[in-house]
Order: sequence, then structure tokens, then C-alpha cells
Amino acid sequence: MTFQQQIQQGIPTELPQPKPYETQINHAPKRKEILSDEEKKLALKNALRYFEPKFHAELLPEFKEELEKYGRIYMYRFRPDYEMKARDIAEYPGKSEQAKAIMLMIQNNLDYAVAQHPHELITYGGNGAVFSNWAQYLLTMKYLSEMTDEQTLTMYSGHPMGLFPSHKDAPRVVVTNGMMIPNYSKPDDWEKFNALGVSQYGQMTAGSYMYIGPQGIVHGTTITVLNAFRKINKEPKGGLFVTSGLGGMSGAQPKAGNIAGCITVIAEVNPKITKIRHEQKWVNEIHENLDELVARVRKAQENQETVSLAYLGNIVEVWEKFDEENLRIDIGSDQTSLHNPWAGGYYPVGISFEDSNKMMAENPELFKEKVQETLRRHASAINKHTAKGTYFFDYGNAFLLEASRAGADVMSENPTIGREFKYPSYVQDIMGPMCFDYGFGPFRWVCTSGKPEDLQKTDDIACAVLEEMIKTSPEEIQQQMKDNITWIKGAQENNLVVGSQARILYADAEGRMKIAEAFNKAIANGEIGAVVLGRDHHDVSGTDSPYRETSNIYDGSRFTADMAIQNVIGDSFRGATWVSIHNGGGVGWGEVINGGFGMLLDGSDDADRRLKSMLFWDVNNGISRRSWARNEGAVFAIKRAMEAEPNLKVTLPNFVDESLF
Ligand SMILES: NC(=O)c1ccc[n+]([C@@H]2O[C@H](COP(=O)([O-])OP(=O)(O)OC[C@H]3O[C@@H](n4cnc5c(N)ncnc54)[C@H](O)[C@@H]3O)[C@@H](O)[C@H]2O)c1
Repeated sequence: MTFQQQIQQGIPTELPQPKPYETQINHAPKRKEILSDEEKKLALKNALRYFEPKFHAELLPEFKEELEKYGRIYMYRFRPDYEMKARDIAEYPGKSEQAKAIMLMIQNNLDYAVAQHPHELITYGGNGAVFSNWAQYLLTMKYLSEMTDEQTLTMYSGHPMGLFPSHKDAPRVVVTNGMMIPNYSKPDDWEKFNALGVSQYGQMTAGSYMYIGPQGIVHGTTITVLNAFRKINKEPKGGLFVTSGLGGMSGAQPKAGNIAGCITVIAEVNPKITKIRHEQKWVNEIHENLDELVARVRKAQENQETVSLAYLGNIVEVWEKFDEENLRIDIGSDQTSLHNPWAGGYYPVGISFEDSNKMMAENPELFKEKVQETLRRHASAINKHTAKGTYFFDYGNAFLLEASRAGADVMSENPTIGREFKYPSYVQDIMGPMCFDYGFGPFRWVCTSGKPEDLQKTDDIACAVLEEMIKTSPEEIQQQMKDNITWIKGAQENNLVVGSQARILYADAEGRMKIAEAFNKAIANGEIGAVVLGRDHHDVSGTDSPYRETSNIYDGSRFTADMAIQNVIGDSFRGATWVSIHNGGGVGWGEVINGGFGMLLDGSDDADRRLKSMLFWDVNNGISRRSWARNEGAVFAIKRAMEAEPNLKVTLPNFVDESLF
């Protein structure tokens, strides 16, 4: 069968042969056993409902074994045989160009070069799923290959509920991931309902088909590292940045450190992942001996080198050793997956990687104790460094939150609302006030032709738009504009593409609209093929997350999720090709609500109308909320937006004189 025929077939009518478990691939850890015997039966019945009854007797023991061995039913046998990667949009079967674009994006999220655990349909973050099993994948691709622009596919946490009649301006796909009744949104609820096959953790761009490999995060991290050095008034050259994680997103840190020009030391416990990042040249050297690492860092400091050094081992060892050796760390952070602390996101110190994996499945209580013990040691070592002048920030991975829950010494001595911890989150100090409040956020696009030349042309177009805009940009956003022009000029040279031909930059509403409009014109003129627009959920308006994206909201509303919900509803009736709303993403299940969109630009007048309507809302919604929270940058930005668009009328806050209290 051709690729197209396999897509159109959906779940095969004849059972494919069982597939061997490929050990050279990076697999999801065994999930902890959480279901009762009765619930296991339910999970099996749930899995079997995708298949005709005549196959049940053969599939039942196999699925049962998967559930017992891995804690989930992935239906490995149904993994397709064709190569998993984004193809030229013209290669996808179907009646709707928009649906084909979504197929391309789904395949990109599962590409072996992109996905963290491709066979378990996990794109990043340890549990960021596109689907929960292969039947869902097959069925979704089939629906997309047959739908028209008068239908909408509804996705319930990975499960394609079906095609419903709609209209051409409606989204082609509406995705919800992990939406729970709030009282059922604890980490163990994820374990349970995911094991039952009725919910999943979509992370941010995994379950919304908008992941573009680590490039997205390289850019955000570069901006963060540059601004962190600005914050301590130090040039990155010769400066030392210590952090952890070479995984899906954390792996971008050494590359970003190199682009910023500092010395990066990054610990990672997983040897496979460390090797991959080294082979990809995202990290320059691997070290396994702490004494050698210390000597190497000293040399790099003396020579003011730009270099990234991986330490294959636990991050706690690095912080402790550098303290003993009195090695000065300028900037420190952490990107272990603490949004998922009990199931492989954070490895305890003093226990091997393999033993930890075993312990989390076989003795989860002990594992939890070890994790919390490590967190206390971790925080204590960081505290010693910050007492000596290190600038530490939480990198949105729930480090401070989990450390505080473990009883670590991370609480502020003088807490104020929104400033409970000793250290700021990177959003409180950097991203929020410098970027999000002004509408700057991670705008991205994918060239659906798959041609590098198209990407080059879009880079040139975007750069020309920004260079024109900066001429009249107000002082408040000049730095942002400059950083992004520098970024886009160096993007090709930095060789950032993994998977689809994609690009990211930070732009405000005006920038996003102008760039998108210019792309649409270039498509209409036949200069480039169709382009998918999107963004990370980690943005101005897409995410309500009190310890991350909305951590610099100080009016008490950071524990509400109205903005993210408003955003996705608003995007959906203003022309998004697909929308998604997720519980969990970044900081953990129950800790965040986040949403996003995808939009196909095909050069049409419809696309032009949609992009203007939707992008304007997609950014200004968040600015209005940030402005109402009395964030001064956002007040400035929303007033500017109202001047430019008379139909925008936003309620502005009045400031109260503190001396009245
Ligand atoms: N704020 C942001 O912009 C931002 C960006 C990226 C990621 N994050 C957050 O950072 C975290 C990491 O994301 P990811 O996609 O890289 O996840 P990931 O799970 O792919 O990577 C985390 C890595 O940390 C390693 N690790 C765990 N414990 C360790 C320890 N004690 N010492 C050394 N290494 C250890 C793991 O082996 C893993 O490879 C997530 O919680 C994510 O939400 C935030």
C-alpha cells in the first residue's frame, strides 16, 4: 500500500503482525501501577472498542501485557510502517488543504528526530502526548484525509470523537487535552485516567500539533539568557550559566548559551539523551568526572570561551561540587521535568538512572521520598551559591513549587502576594515585564512545501518587515525588536531546523500580523508554498499558569484561567484552522490551563481576513488582562493598540495611591 492508501485506510481491516519492542529507541518509562483489577478490565475494554470484536481475543492478551509491562496500552502493533515525518503538503491525501496541513503537523510531532518517545506518541516533557495509542493516530489521520472544509473534527484528549458538520470559517479541528473536573486534576488523576485511556497530558505544543523541535525553545532561552545577563549587568562572555536537562526543551539551553556567548554547564542523567544532543552538536563536550569538569570550567573562564559542557550525572552533584570548589556561577537555573516529579521528570541523587527507573515503578513511595530529599539538597546547594552572588531563576519547570512542597528552604523571608519564593521565575523578572506585557511572544511558522528555500524566503520577509517596523517603534520595545532582528539574521547560520522547515521569533501583535500578511502575499504570488502559522502556548495570552506565564500578575487573578479559555474560544471564531486547550503543560497537570492555534495561510483573501482578525485578538486579549492587572508595560501596549484600532475599547485600571492605606 502507498503512504496515501495507508492513511486513508485508518485502522487496518486485517491485523498487522505484532511489532518487536525496539530497544535503540528512547522509550517512556514504565508508568506506575495505579489501576485496580476492575479498572484494568475497564482500560482493556476501552482499548478494544477501537477494534472489531473478531480481533478481541487476539488483542486482549497483548494489550493486557502492555498495561502490565508499561502501565499503558500503546497498541504498538498498530504503529505504521511508513516513515514518520512531515512531508510536502502535496503528498497528503484529502479534500481539505487545512486538514492536510494538520496531518503534516501531527507527523512532525511524532518524527523520530523530533519526538522524545516516538513509539509512545510522546513529543516532549516525558508525558506530552499527541495521542494515547496508535489506534487514535490511525483514526485521526483517516478522518483528516476524508474531511471537507464544511466539517470539524473534535479531539477529546487524543481520541477523535468524529467529524461534525460546520462551515468554512470554523476550525477544522478542535482539540481538548486533559480537561478535568477541577477536583480530579491531581498528578495521580492523570496516572489513572490516562491509564484508563480516557484522558491525556497534551503538554503545550505536543497535543496541539505545534511542536517544532527544540528551535522554539532555543530562541526563548537565548532571549532569557541574554536578558538574565543584562539583569546582572554582565556581558555573557566569560560568564557561567549552570542548569540541567538535555531533554525535549531543556536541551536547547546549551545551544542558547552558545548563541548568547557564555559558558554553559548542564547536567543530564540520561546517557542516551546526552549522546543525542552531543551528536546533534547542541552541546559541545560531555564530562563524566566532576574534577575534570571543574578544571575545564576554570580554563573556559580564563579564556573567556563560548562553550557548553554537559555533565552526565545529577545536577545536585554539580551545584555541590562547584560550591566546594568555590567556582563562581553567574546565572543558575534548572530544567528537569518537575512538572512530572514522580514519573521520571526528576531523578534522585545517589541512585543510578536504571535503578531510579525501576524504583519509580516498583516502589513509588520510596521514590517520592528520594526525590524530595534530593530537592532539599538541590535547593540548599543553590542557596549557598546565591549567597555568594549567583542570580538564580526558576525556569518554569515547577522547581520552586516542588522544592517548597518537599520542605526545601526556598520560601521568601518577606513574602508579598505573588512573591512567595526566595527566587523569581523567569517570567516574573524577564519574560513578563520585558516581553509578554508588550505583546511579544513566540510566533512561529512552518513551510508546508518542506523546502529549505521557502524557509529562507520567509526569514527574509520577516526580517524585512521587522526592519521596517523598528524605524518607528517606540523606545519601550526597541530592545525586543533588535534582539529578534539579530535572531532572524543568524537563524539560518545557527542551523536550527529539526523536522519540518520551521521558524520562530518573538513579535508583538502588529509584527505578527504584518509578517503573516506578507507571507500570505508571497504565497499568492507563487513565491513560496503555503505556510502554517502558530505559536507556543507559552505566550502573552494563551496560558494561565500562576507560577510561570502569569506569575507576574499581581492582582490576585493569577489563579484564574479566564484568559486562556477566552483566548481559545476567541481564536476559534476568528478564523483559526485549529484550536486547542489543555490542562497541564510545563508546570504540571492541574497547575495550568493553556491554549493555542494553528492557521493555514494559502494566499487567499479568506486567509488574509482571518489572520488579521485572529492574530489581533490572540495577542491583545492577553495584553488587556495584563493591563487590567496594573502591569505598566501592558497599559502602555493596550493604549497603543486602541489608538491603532478604534474598534478596540478596553477597560483601563485606575491606580491607587499607596499612601491612602
Ligand atoms: N519556561 C520555559 O520556557 C520552559 C521551557 C522548556 C521547558 N520548561 C520546563 O522545563 C522542564 C523540562 O522540559 P523538557 O521538555 O526538557 O523535559 P524532558 O523531560 O525532556 O527533559 C528533562 C531532562 O532532565 C533530566 N533530569 C531529570 N532529573 C535530573 C537530575 N536530577 N539531574 C540531571 N538531569 C535530570 C531528564 O533525564 C530529562 O532528560 C519541563 O518541566 C518544562 O515544562 C520550561
